[in-house]
Amino acid sequence: MADRTWGTNPFTPTFGVTPPRLAGRDPELAAFVDALDEGPGAPGRATLFTGPRGSGKTVMLNAVEDLAKTRGWLVISQSTRPGVAEELATSDLPALLAYADPEEGRSEVTSVSVSGATFGGGVTRTRAERHPRTPTLRSQLAELTDLLRPNGTGVLITLDEVHRAALTDLRVIAQAVQHAFREGRDVAFAAAGLPAAVDALLRDDVLTFLRRAERVPLRDVSDPAVDLALHDPVLAAGRTMGDEALAVAAQGTHGYPFLVQLVGHAMWDVDRTSRQITAEHARRGVASARRRVGRLVHEPALADLSAVDRAFLDAMALDDGPTRMGDIAVRLGVSAGYASQYRLRLIATALIAPAGYGRVDFAVPYLREYLRKRMRR
Ligand SMILES: Nc1ncnc2c1ncn2[C@@H]1O[C@H](COP(=O)(O)OP(=O)(O)OP(=O)(O)O)[C@@H](O)[C@H]1O
Ligand SMILES: [Mg+2]
Repeated sequence: MADRTWGTNPFTPTFGVTPPRLAGRDPELAAFVDALDEGPGAPGRATLFTGPRGSGKTVMLNAVEDLAKTRGWLVISQSTRPGVAEELATSDLPALLAYADPEEGRSEVTSVSVSGATFGGGVTRTRAERHPRTPTLRSQLAELTDLLRPNGTGVLITLDEVHRAALTDLRVIAQAVQHAFREGRDVAFAAAGLPAAVDALLRDDVLTFLRRAERVPLRDVSDPAVDLALHDPVLAAGRTMGDEALAVAAQGTHGYPFLVQLVGHAMWDVDRTSRQITAEHARRGVASARRRVGRLVHEPALADLSAVDRAFLDAMALDDGPTRMGDIAVRLGVSAGYASQYRLRLIATALIAPAGYGRVDFAVPYLREYLRKRMRR
């Protein structure tokens, strides 16, 4: 087999692209499906996925959309931005209504046959024309769920990248969904955002609906799930991998979903002529993934932060493990109270996490190394 090359890399180190095997998210997916099956009133019918960059929020929304579709639900999938509520009302919902409305289908067929005969003027009557009024998000959700009720299905709305910049739109959508919930309609809602962005939204008291939503933090993936997510795609693509290689690769991911794809992709590419992925390939894959995660994840995350936030992180990077808050205040030359404000802000970004009494540590793999390298430059 020496002359063969394994060209098609199964791993997907690209944001928003569903991985060959979704690692460690079965409980979250099962909870969402249960909520669809349980009926209106199930708490999981409004779910907010949160997690840092690369934790798999977009992919999770894709997965719940797929599950809803296999149950016959209709899906509206949008990313959050100003104007999105209007787009739902003027484009997404009308399209689904046209699709779900049996009358609409019949009048289309009729108009085709009629225009071929001598009745004159094809009459394409849409539902909107039969009931003239200005359709709103709320009225269209009601109409759509009425149409779907006989099938026992409903409509799922997903919103990716929620943030305050689209607060007005989120309010409009949340109110329409909340109203549908109150009327016992088969509507489900799933949104995703960075933890700090979601926190900021939930402080807005108009969004009670969102505050009551199930908040599902997308955490690091367990070791056995990482093993499967690395090993399965390799085997499925016809290559092999020994225990040592798998251990090296898995350890290099630290359970961080994006790194599973980065490490997998990089180790695959080290020697495409070898059927076996060796421990050496895995080591080189991890080294390459480490560099790429800095560029793709850490760099943009740091760009979102203030200068003081970054100085705080630099002060932490001087240590090899958890840092005492007292040391940070000293290193920054600020008061303990001032430092603790920044501690809270950074914990909200999920870049750092409390690590025992009075200590903090990095919560994203290789961020410490990345900051050290940046300081040296
Ligand atoms: N559970 C998982 N198992 C394996 N790989 C995953 C998993 N979740 C996500 N990934 C991979 O991680 C990468 C990032 O996923 P995704 O784009 O969903 O992250 P995100 O949280 O939406 O990031 P961002 O905040 O930048 O939008 C993708 O390459 C995806 O294939
Ligand atoms: Mg995303």
